[in-house]
Amino acid sequence: FANDGYKLWLQYYSINNSSYREIFSSVYIEGESSTIDAIKDELARASKGMFDEDVVESSDEGANLRIQLYDQGLRDVIPEDEMNSLSEQGFFIKEINYNGASQVLITAKSQIGLLYGTFRFLQKIQKNEKLPTYGFKDAPTIEHRILNHWDNLDRTVERGYSGFSIWNWHRLPRHIDQQYIDYARANASVGINGTVLTNVNANSLILTPEYLEKVAALAEVFRPYGIKVYLTARFSSPIELGKLETADPLDPEVKKWWADKVEEIYDYIPDFGGFLVKADSEGQPGPHNYKRTQAEGANLLADALKPYNGIVMWRAFVYSEESPEDRAKQAYNEFKPLDGQFRDNVIVQVKNGAIDFQPREPFHSLFGGLEKTPLMMEFQITQEYLGHDTHLAFLAPMYEEILQTDTHAKGEGSTVSKIVSGQLFNHSLSAIAGVSNIGSDRNWTGHHFHQANWFAFGRLAWNPEEKSSNIADDWIKLTFSSNEEFVRPVKDVMLASHEMVVNYMTPLGLHHIMAWDHHYGPGPWVTGKHREDWNSTYYHQASEYGIGFDRTAEGSDALKQYHPELEKQWSDPETTPEKFLLWFHHLPWDYTLENGEILWDGLAKRYQEGVDEARSNVEVWRSLEGFIDAERYEHVLSFLKIQAEEAEWWKNACLLYFQQYSQKPIPEGVEKPE
Ligand code: GCU
Repeated sequence: FANDGYKLWLQYYSINNSSYREIFSSVYIEGESSTIDAIKDELARASKGMFDEDVVESSDEGANLRIQLYDQGLRDVIPEDEMNSLSEQGFFIKEINYNGASQVLITAKSQIGLLYGTFRFLQKIQKNEKLPTYGFKDAPTIEHRILNHWDNLDRTVERGYSGFSIWNWHRLPRHIDQQYIDYARANASVGINGTVLTNVNANSLILTPEYLEKVAALAEVFRPYGIKVYLTARFSSPIELGKLETADPLDPEVKKWWADKVEEIYDYIPDFGGFLVKADSEGQPGPHNYKRTQAEGANLLADALKPYNGIVMWRAFVYSEESPEDRAKQAYNEFKPLDGQFRDNVIVQVKNGAIDFQPREPFHSLFGGLEKTPLMMEFQITQEYLGHDTHLAFLAPMYEEILQTDTHAKGEGSTVSKIVSGQLFNHSLSAIAGVSNIGSDRNWTGHHFHQANWFAFGRLAWNPEEKSSNIADDWIKLTFSSNEEFVRPVKDVMLASHEMVVNYMTPLGLHHIMAWDHHYGPGPWVTGKHREDWNSTYYHQASEYGIGFDRTAEGSDALKQYHPELEKQWSDPETTPEKFLLWFHHLPWDYTLENGEILWDGLAKRYQEGVDEARSNVEVWRSLEGFIDAERYEHVLSFLKIQAEEAEWWKNACLLYFQQYSQKPIPEGVEKPE
């Protein structure tokens, strides 16, 4: 039958032979609330889909499935200290004995915990997994797990490649589309608990009553699913909306304007989460306009939000095109001196790398650079620099690589993940953001496989120590099939796909050589634009001598921003991981790589490897015809073909361009570019 992918990983496709078949025939759920209703709704969908049965609710605690908040009465089956070890949003699932009969118990300290537990249990059923005898418990380690929509009020989406914004501002608040509910379900099912509805390049209109009413309607839909709503705040709003002459953060009238505005917002949305702010970057207004610091700007909004427990997510993506300084260094230079000057409800939101969501970047030096200020991670889920909608790139391995990198900030083991979870520097405020890839396409994300990146972001936000292979495994089984003959090859394709894209786009640490502005396709030749750092040639520095950006002490010295262990390791090309070689070094074309090849040959071969893999993915997928519905099969196949063609385009363009400088022949085993 046809499947357009709308149901994401909540397919609830029919399964046979499950020991869980009987579970829905008697279900006891304690309490009444909109979250409890959401739990019931999910159980009904799952039962219908997987077993074609309706749920039979029971008032008997001894039902097959029992969902209730933890209380004294459950002490015998789950000891109190075990429960106490879980945070507020955690849950416990356990098969217990109730008066001689076996029962599955889902319990938690909060109703949202019950919802998370229910989703996890349903996922286990779909995957046909047994519960371990001692039960199963889990809880998130990061407090705020947030999607960032770069959605404009006219429904275009900045860097969005799957249609228009799903927020239909025109129809809101009077029409609530089912898609909003399904969006909330999908997010809650992986533990995402916040959403910033609007673009970081903000429009102050979103803060007017006309729009706040609409925002409130969305918040109402999301609330039962534990999802808070946040907005982007344009720094100059006091001028644009309040008709003030200034937006100076130290001006008393400006402070009052924000305090009043925030009060108004909380009238509409009592559990409003707070603001995300892009200031002083790429034309956005900010405190620099008034010669104030980023901290003074952030604190202005933080003070207004404080009485309501709102937070400010202040972005560190601050750089100036006028500065002669290496762009990779600018955010650190700006924020490092401000460490400790931010209010306690400010968290600084830092992109995973210091340039801009490249296919591969070393982690941003602010992680481990700031200690007194909590930092949140900003990953990009939408594939601005990774082939937009049509190129399959499973991003969990990229996120994992960043999260697991050791910053050495407090000695060995100081991973980025421990900084993001607040553990390393003991911050109670912790958060992580992913720039959404969701749009109005029937399958939400354009490429069916890009649903996996939304899913993966949620899973890593919940548990930043999670392994990519587990995430891929779960996603494939929930989305398509648990048949190992299908799962195994698809998982292999997914897990290798990020590296494949890096190979055919930017191997060995190359970066920002994409086409001008839209960033789709190759453009290492782009020059002559008004900004030096917006020229691709700035980043690769190719010349007759060699290629790469020198960030050692002889070059821009960006390496100085890392802790000494890494600075030392990465300062020497011999000890720099090859994946970052040209990120940090400018090297001659005949520099010898680890395997004895010269740099030019190694570069060319990596491009070819990427192409070969993209082509082989088409064949792997073809061999899986019949395992899944024809509609999704064909859709994916056509995208994989596009990807294979475009991988070749990337290889040919880059090799032909760089060959002008290297003046070396295309090595054996690499197809001659035409
Ligand atoms: C990138 C992207 C912009 C975006 C910016 C940001 O530069 O190309 O579209 O606005 O990042 O993160 O603020």
